[in-house]
Amino acid sequence: MKKLFPFLFLPSWVVAQVQGSFDIIPAPVQVVAAQGSFLVRPGERIHIAEDIWKGVAGMLAEKLTVATGATTPVSPGMSSTGILFRLHSGMPEEAYHVEVSPRKVEIQASSAKGAFYAVQTLLQLMPPAVLAGKPTQEKISIPACRIEDEPRFGYRGLMLDVGRHFIPVADVKRFIDLMAHYKMNRFHWHLTEDQGWRIEIKKYPLLTQVSSVRKESMVGHYRENKFDGKPYGSFYTQDEIRQVVAYAAERHVMVVPEIEMPGHSQAVLAAYPQFGFNADRIVPVRTKWGISEDVLFPREETFRFLEDVLTEVMDLFPSPYIHIGGDECPKAQWKESRFCQELIKKEGLRDEHELQSWFIRRIDKFLTSKGRRLLGWDEILEGGLSPNATVMSWRGVKGGIEAAKQGHDVVMSPNSFFYLDYYQGPPASEPLAIGGNLPLAKCYSFEPDLPELTAAEAKHVIGVQANVWTEYIGDLKYAEYMTYPRALALAEVAWTPKGKKDYERFKARVKARIPYLDAMQVNYAKTFLHQ
Ligand code: ACM
Repeated sequence: MKKLFPFLFLPSWVVAQVQGSFDIIPAPVQVVAAQGSFLVRPGERIHIAEDIWKGVAGMLAEKLTVATGATTPVSPGMSSTGILFRLHSGMPEEAYHVEVSPRKVEIQASSAKGAFYAVQTLLQLMPPAVLAGKPTQEKISIPACRIEDEPRFGYRGLMLDVGRHFIPVADVKRFIDLMAHYKMNRFHWHLTEDQGWRIEIKKYPLLTQVSSVRKESMVGHYRENKFDGKPYGSFYTQDEIRQVVAYAAERHVMVVPEIEMPGHSQAVLAAYPQFGFNADRIVPVRTKWGISEDVLFPREETFRFLEDVLTEVMDLFPSPYIHIGGDECPKAQWKESRFCQELIKKEGLRDEHELQSWFIRRIDKFLTSKGRRLLGWDEILEGGLSPNATVMSWRGVKGGIEAAKQGHDVVMSPNSFFYLDYYQGPPASEPLAIGGNLPLAKCYSFEPDLPELTAAEAKHVIGVQANVWTEYIGDLKYAEYMTYPRALALAEVAWTPKGKKDYERFKARVKARIPYLDAMQVNYAKTFLHQ
């Protein structure tokens, strides 16, 4: 009795917070608990004050219909009871307010994006079955509260490498669905690699006939140098790509495609050797992981090819950002080539790094002329950054700092914090991974507000991203194990105000989310529970 005593005199909203009934991830800007709860009855009506809520209200209605077994109608107009969506103009696009009382649930936002995030928050306050889209006998009640929320960063990304291992369309959709629930909004689709080209390009059919299939794959760790002897490959048709883009858009996720150049392009050269060192040098689609010396050459015909490819890519992806890779391009072949050396001289360039910058600048000019923005890994800084480039900083934050100081936008994706192919626990007790040491706490500890940047420079940091490289990840189940719960840390770094970050509380909230992850059959890692 003594222990409970203080609770008896605390206002009920404090008690609710102490009891942890608002274990929302990412943590909202402000949650104030109130008295009582709203009971969602079977057939509960959803009212939409404006037409713009049709999609998001429909999504919530579908979940409630499945959960309760009774049709949840959506009707136009205002109401003082039930569930209501209503315009609050002037709020930032992704912001929302939610007010839950025993009489009604009112969602306010200025756009469907904000309302979508409000619904994700509400789904975390209802029983797990609702989120998972399963029927339930459980009472669906939402604790009374007032939530005001908006994201810290506009770019909240996850990258999936489908070059090393192909992830089928249905699984890509599931990956997107899950990330959107945790309010991540940029799906970076790494579509081309030395080991496989994964996107249909109508003008270059050999990319799918030849470049999408490798003779065999590595088994075990790279250093063991063992192969399975089995051909491996697949690709997405343009129809499938469109489906994924539309599916993501419904969840307010922008799909950012990546077409690698000039490195990580051995698969292209397997089909079109004329874009490399010379047309007589025949290379297969790469079977080993690691970095290939066979890279694209800055020839006119290569640029024609890349512009053709990017034209089809831009037709498929409405994203303002087009990622062109730019990482890990060995320069040995360019050093050796008379063509490259003459080009360096002719263009007045200092070396091969400046030649790569010249290469990227041409692509930047092309994308800019089409109204798009070039996004590239931080190697694009070497030899000079092209004028309209946005930099994705992966080799730590150094490249990001440099780019921000030069007035370029930056996405922070430092490998030591956000490479989800790294081990999350002791390697002996984890499935095979590339290496590294990235427990959940480390991932959570990343702070994008870097002391090296002035306030004006820091504004160029538009967000953060975690990357799922798949050399050692053969399918979605494995990918989920590596992604969750670490992507929840990324989500919170990206969304929650700096002052509200607290690892121990976050960890407690991750634990509270476990029944939900279980209901959705997410193959998350439990490693963090022992850390
Ligand atoms: C990278 O990890 N090569 C971007």
